Amino acid sequence: MQLAERMSRIGTESAFEVLAKARALEKDGRNIVHLEIGQPDFPTPRHVVDAGKQALDEGWTGYGPTAGFPEFREAIAAYVSRTRGIPVGADNVCVVPGGKPIMFFTMMAVLEPGDEVIYPNPGFPIYESVIEFLGARAVPMPLVESRGFSFDLDAFAAKLTSRTKMVVLNSPANPTGGVIARDDLARIAALLRDRDVLILSDEIYSRIYYDEAPESITQFDGMLEKTVILDGFSKTYSMTGWRLGYGVMPTWLADAVNLLMVNSNSCTASFTQRAGMAALAGPQDAVDTMVAEFRRRRDAIVTGLNRLPGFRCTVPSGAFYAFPNVSGTGLPSRELADLLLYEAGVACLSGTAFGAYGEGYLRFSYANSLENIEQALSRIAAVSERWTSRTPATR
Ligand SMILES: Cc1ncc(COP(=O)(O)O)c(C=O)c1O
Repeated sequence: MQLAERMSRIGTESAFEVLAKARALEKDGRNIVHLEIGQPDFPTPRHVVDAGKQALDEGWTGYGPTAGFPEFREAIAAYVSRTRGIPVGADNVCVVPGGKPIMFFTMMAVLEPGDEVIYPNPGFPIYESVIEFLGARAVPMPLVESRGFSFDLDAFAAKLTSRTKMVVLNSPANPTGGVIARDDLARIAALLRDRDVLILSDEIYSRIYYDEAPESITQFDGMLEKTVILDGFSKTYSMTGWRLGYGVMPTWLADAVNLLMVNSNSCTASFTQRAGMAALAGPQDAVDTMVAEFRRRRDAIVTGLNRLPGFRCTVPSGAFYAFPNVSGTGLPSRELADLLLYEAGVACLSGTAFGAYGEGYLRFSYANSLENIEQALSRIAAVSERWTSRTPATR
């Protein structure tokens, strides 16, 4: 039996592969500092866990409506309307198991073979994977380090063609921590306003930022009717394993996404949705505490990375990733990431795990304690002679 041809076009998320390598080393007795994982290291807030447990006790254990419970969709619509300053209702909301299915379902619903999709590179690897899986054309938009990892807007304008069907935005971004500035969003909106294009605005890190609150493209004239907001509970409420996310989109597309849901998952787990309701309605101090702690770690890791020979790290404005430029080491990113894992016991990801334009970078997740971050930095410093001692001729 052969796999279908389309399976040769699907990609993966190599964070999970690095985690497996690190775990294998740990089994052999090695101590590894984990800076590869993209999930908050905080527990789900107590009141949210309690709401989930109570829901199980109360019998929220059966199927629910495919699109999500109406009262939950209302609560999400109110939350998104308030946080983005836009008018959306429950009909625009599709509740799904995590943020990721919104990428899969919306691309599946609109892309035809040959359609072009412009997406950030380096970027979350699943964008490119699903675009190619569906036979559409992945058009990478290189991010520019000197612009806080935003697009070069002239280059973006030049990539728009009559075949452009979708544009993916991600702010705050994985893996760079970059936030797209308001002026840039205004220009992107102006370029897309008169085009028949769908925008997938991945806002999963919308609550994790260190400067001004990130803006959503949906705030600009004419954008709401052509945008899907992807958001969820994984990062904001430290709920990655609960699998709870949602998309906010025009109703014609919500109908299609619900059809894909009924054909795949039937519905999102009922008790999980009850926990999500408690997360939105309850106190938000756990989010503030988490972000304040992330800020301390961000400052520590960026300072430490900038002291390492061959490393140069800009200060990320959001998410919980540092994305240093390591081209000064003279090593390819993948080789350097392996060296750090096997020789320093520090797990991180090669920038190339996020696309070809990630070459020359590493991604460090600072979802780990300050103590472990300091430990990782000193371990890296201790092996840095492996690249500083190489003369240019031998590189
Ligand atoms: C940019 C981005 N979008 C979406 C997701 C997926 O989130 P979820 O775990 O809720 O599916 C992630 C997870 O790492 C992410 O980094």
